[in-house]
Amino acid sequence: MNLSDKKATLSFSDGSPSVEFPVYKGTVGPDVVDIRKLYGQTGMFTFDPGFMSTAACESGITYIDGDKGELLYRGFPIEQLAVNCDFLDICYLILNGELPNGEQKKDFDTQVTHHTLVNEQLHFFLRGFRRDAHPMAVLTGLVGALSAFYHDSTDITNPEHRHISAIRLIAKMPTLVAMAYKYSQGQPFIYPRNDLSYTGNFLRMMFATPCEDYKVNEVVERALDRIFILHADHEQNASTSTVRLCGSSGTNPFAAISAGVACLWGPAHGGANEACLQMLEELQANGGVAKVGEFMEKVKDKNSGVRLMGFGHRVYKNYDPRAKLMQETCKEVLAALGLENDPLFKLAMELERIALEDPYFVQRKLYPNVDFYSGIVQRAIGIPTSLFTAIFALARTVGWIAQWNEMLSDPDYKIGRPRQLFTGHVTRDVPEMNKR
Ligand code: ACO
Repeated sequence: MNLSDKKATLSFSDGSPSVEFPVYKGTVGPDVVDIRKLYGQTGMFTFDPGFMSTAACESGITYIDGDKGELLYRGFPIEQLAVNCDFLDICYLILNGELPNGEQKKDFDTQVTHHTLVNEQLHFFLRGFRRDAHPMAVLTGLVGALSAFYHDSTDITNPEHRHISAIRLIAKMPTLVAMAYKYSQGQPFIYPRNDLSYTGNFLRMMFATPCEDYKVNEVVERALDRIFILHADHEQNASTSTVRLCGSSGTNPFAAISAGVACLWGPAHGGANEACLQMLEELQANGGVAKVGEFMEKVKDKNSGVRLMGFGHRVYKNYDPRAKLMQETCKEVLAALGLENDPLFKLAMELERIALEDPYFVQRKLYPNVDFYSGIVQRAIGIPTSLFTAIFALARTVGWIAQWNEMLSDPDYKIGRPRQLFTGHVTRDVPEMNKR
């Protein structure tokens, strides 16, 4: 952190003395006012529910400029990474800060490939779930259950232990997601195969059966790999902040990541891709493109409770750069699978066209986010809607674990402990039963 020449002064209307706070500069992006001593100096807290103006940590992993619609992983634009790298390059980059050279890539890919198996006991754990359980409920449980294994690497103060936990998580997530899917289908689990790519192996674990192998289609493999790349990290979003807060108590890494999975599930976050596809399917069933205008009126009516899913973002007040890449992938996949006339894609394009011209969306700076097109791609690949958020969790695992590791590597880190503005009752006496 670089100290700025500027200082911030907070003054009060009641004549109490004003206080001065240091201002720090990042390498890029807004400066921050360091208010850590505010309480000590004034006896007051700041009030910022939803963290609208609060930087909760210092980080060097991902940078987003929401006004420009820019996303950088370790300084590299997402547009360049998406076309020049595969997902494991991105994992290496996010974890280590630099892209791997040829030898580093070979070593890293080998390490991940050789950690894809999960302990057989996990199969029994999975069998305790109902077959119709939501995959995110199952995944929250399975990832949390990993904390009961791997007793060789639980010292979170040891960087080597943290590294092996990161590799295990990245390697085992595809196996767990595919297991959750197979279980929901009543099909046997398919074990990983080491001669396939990370994404090719996941596709095979999803779609092969003991009776028939699955031949990985290159366009589909590239498309899913791109989905993984685009979802790998997104700075201090709700699930990442959850992982940091949970991990700040010093808990087991798998437990901290399972907290992230749980948070991601919500429809305002990772669950939006599932909600977006459901919205498109419902709209298609109720009249399709012809009814788009009527639907948009509902979206704009605050009393209807209807939102245009896949639109809007807390940080992006411009086109989400991932949505552009996803739209490109969507066209490629639909063409490769002979689905150029996919009605849902046409519907999505029409919704986007109308929204981008409508003053409601323009004034509020609401643009498509990554989820707007990712659901259509996944559906075309054959991934069921209920599994979309689990795919997101698989991809985001590297971001979560890298952010957790960054936090623990900081010698000054503290347990996260927000404060509150209390508006409940002041002290009162418990009345006797007959007076309640
Ligand atoms: N449809 C209609 N109106 C919307 C939408 C939308 N999708 N998103 C925001 N608005 C409106 C709000 O009603 C509000 O209007 P107002 O100022 O008149 O009250 C204004 O735009 C600002 O919206 P907020 O909800 O205050 O913005 P916030 O930053 O809190 O929310 C969020 C961001 C949750 C993503 C929101 O845009 C949303 O619900 N989008 C749909 C769900 C979605 O696609 N989520 C995916 C996020 S990306 C991800 O997690 C990968």
